[in-house]
Amino acid sequence: MALIKRTSVEQAVDAANIVEIVETRTPLRRVGTRYVGRCPFHEERTPSFSVNAERKLYHCFGCGAGGDLLRFVQETEGLDFVGAVEWLADRYRVKLEYEEVSPQAEQARSRRDRLFGLLDAAARFYERHLWETEEGEPARNYLAERGFGQDVCREFRLGLSPGGPTLPAKARQRGYTNEELAAAGLINRGGMDYFGHRLTFPLADTRGRVVGFGARRLEWVDDPRAKYVNSPEGEVFQKASLVYGLHAARSVVAKSDRAIIVEGYTDVLALRQAGLPDVVASMGTSLTEQQLRELGRLTRRVFLCFDSDTAGEAATLRGMELALRQGFDVRVVALPPGLDPADAADEFAGRLEGAEGYLLYRVRLELQRAPSRQEAFERVGEILKAAEVSPDRDEAERLATDRLDLPPGAFSRFAPGRHRGDASPEEGPGAVSPRILKAGDRLERDALAGCIANAGLQRALAELSPEYFDSAFHRALYEHLVDGTETSPAGVELLAELDARAADEGIDEATASQLLLQLRERHLRRQLDDATLSEATERVIKLQAALAKVRDAVRELG
Ligand code: UTP
Ligand code: MN
Repeated sequence: MALIKRTSVEQAVDAANIVEIVETRTPLRRVGTRYVGRCPFHEERTPSFSVNAERKLYHCFGCGAGGDLLRFVQETEGLDFVGAVEWLADRYRVKLEYEEVSPQAEQARSRRDRLFGLLDAAARFYERHLWETEEGEPARNYLAERGFGQDVCREFRLGLSPGGPTLPAKARQRGYTNEELAAAGLINRGGMDYFGHRLTFPLADTRGRVVGFGARRLEWVDDPRAKYVNSPEGEVFQKASLVYGLHAARSVVAKSDRAIIVEGYTDVLALRQAGLPDVVASMGTSLTEQQLRELGRLTRRVFLCFDSDTAGEAATLRGMELALRQGFDVRVVALPPGLDPADAADEFAGRLEGAEGYLLYRVRLELQRAPSRQEAFERVGEILKAAEVSPDRDEAERLATDRLDLPPGAFSRFAPGRHRGDASPEEGPGAVSPRILKAGDRLERDALAGCIANAGLQRALAELSPEYFDSAFHRALYEHLVDGTETSPAGVELLAELDARAADEGIDEATASQLLLQLRERHLRRQLDDATLSEATERVIKLQAALAKVRDAVRELG
């Protein structure tokens, strides 16, 4: 495929009027420096779609859709990047020049395309083997016995691997090489089907492209490997960033403003079949930052559903805390031990209604686990201390007071907000107060938003460095803003979102410089803590002086 020259891409974007283009989809109204209207990506009655005509960015506060002009054209016209540029050029009469593509770049691109093509063909092949062959019969019966109808299995493109050399041979007939088969994670070292004799669950990226498989052992097949074998990490498959089922659930999640997160592939199928369309799976691991970022674009309300054995595991709790810290409203549905959502799909709506807030859940868990009353008191106290004042917190405190048979007010020494600076984020998620972390995340976002909205702060921003930001996404955006480093689509989305927020929240230049100073202060404070710990006296004195200066500046501005 052709590669358009960068300058041509810029000319096409410059020539285009984003307001005009968006208005072919939804009417806009001017509000201050921006344009607002009802979002073309989800149904809504009150307008939460915001367009920055000058920077040509859009963001929806409702469903989280957002990006730049080219992204908008891609999404609404169903085009790829090149297609979107050509579409714009055509409309605004810009003559495009095409790059003499470097053979390497062309090769890399066509290789990825081929791997995606291969993975999709493999999914189709497994599907046919499941539904259309005699060998597929036991697997079909197995699915039927577990109550999975054909519709839902076909929707999620379940399949069956015949094992051995069949798939690789077919692929080679179609011109794929062994090297490509290995890069796509479809063959093992012996050159045989990687998912031999297993039920295959295609794993798709957010665009719906198959990037790999999860494959379940069938009980009647002798197979020493784990219950599920997932594609090996590789060029196109990276498990940590995937949320199973998100592609299918995307628009419903945005519309219902909630996501039900389960652990397993089969749980997604079962709940979907039971009439809950806004369900996705974390795929057995604790939730990752990337997974939460994908979800966070669509909703901030998550219902985490776990077998109550795994729900108390450190990894799971870490995932919950990460979600909390990123500003999610986390509710927990703990199922009786040994029971999966897949086994309890029918009464599931009722369980969702009874879901507990994270805090109450956590306090209950600590009460159950602590070896002594004293220990329970201390542990619950730590949790309460870290929590913001809220009805959930009150309820959790009441529960503990009651269970431990204490007088009212026994936890008052753990009142929140007493030792604000106590926890430093270096201690790791487990030890840190979610309230402080949430505030830290907000500080980073607001500071970046302020700098996007106020060009005058570019220099001040450049004086910081990426390490001032805890979140990898913020670091990447920082580098983009300061050095013009190329951004990922997720980066452009974040840029559009912060641009819209800065306008929405009216972050002016003075506020933004105050926020930058706060980032400086935080950074210095952390360095000081480190230096103090390692007793580097001279450095401590230097840092103390620097910190005092920044604090003075903060006070002056504030
Ligand atoms: P489960 O063991 O609960 O499996 O693991 P499941 O999905 O409920 O399957 P059924 O209902 O018993 O058939 C939950 C998820 O953890 C990941 C998979 O994503 C699985 O769906 N997992 C589990 C693995 O990646 N590898 C394993 O060996 C086991
Ligand atoms: Mn399970």
